[in-house]
Amino acid sequence: MRLIQITDLHVASEDEFTHGVDVRQNFLDILQAVKSFAPEHLIVSGDLAFDTANEQVYHWMKAHFDGLGIPYSVIAGNHDESKLLAKVFQIEHLLTGDDLYYKLDLPSHTFLLLETSRGTMSQAQLEWLGNSLAGLNGPATIFMHHPPVEGGVPYMDINYPLRNMAEVQEVLFRHPHPVYVFCGHYHVEKMLCVKNLTVHITPTTYFQMKWQQPEFALDHLKIGLREINLRPDGVVESAVVYYEGNKTG
Ligand SMILES: [Fe+2]
Repeated sequence: MRLIQITDLHVASEDEFTHGVDVRQNFLDILQAVKSFAPEHLIVSGDLAFDTANEQVYHWMKAHFDGLGIPYSVIAGNHDESKLLAKVFQIEHLLTGDDLYYKLDLPSHTFLLLETSRGTMSQAQLEWLGNSLAGLNGPATIFMHHPPVEGGVPYMDINYPLRNMAEVQEVLFRHPHPVYVFCGHYHVEKMLCVKNLTVHITPTTYFQMKWQQPEFALDHLKIGLREINLRPDGVVESAVVYYEGNKTG
């Protein structure tokens, strides 16, 4: 089964300053790229909003997602509001209180989509995650906004990590099978492996960051998506593809 993941779209409202990046055109371009892969499903792993969640922007994005003709699922990032996102994308039935975490059951695979928009994972969700993993009886594939391990990007690890990472890891490490996590948030492309856990950080459609130094530094303005192929032979294949980004003015 072939999926595409896109993340950290950061689509701005009219009055948000985007530091010279045409985030709307980047979004439209990445959707065209997604279309060219003809995936069975598209996962949008948070930070649809530029800085602050905006209902009009979400509606504009939804219209374009719907126009793709490809089934898709969304989760929230730290710049989103889960309840507003669920309302606009008409998935309020998937909310647990204020949290948007849910199981995505597709014909050949089940995926777990998690909620970390407040930079932490609730006890209720941790319990749900543990139970959901136990019900899988095999490898797990998870989509979430924040990496559940330190990404080795000092600026992000210090300022914007998943705060109860150790608790989340404890649940993930308990799973007696491989756990594949696909996330974003860090504006880099990276893979991190520990114990049964493989974490893929996917680049954004806004900008990518340098990760070799402690302070914030821009790396480049190319935009990326991740192709994920869960092959019938059990191999999990994943690759990032980059495209030219757009500047304003
Ligand atoms: Fe983020």
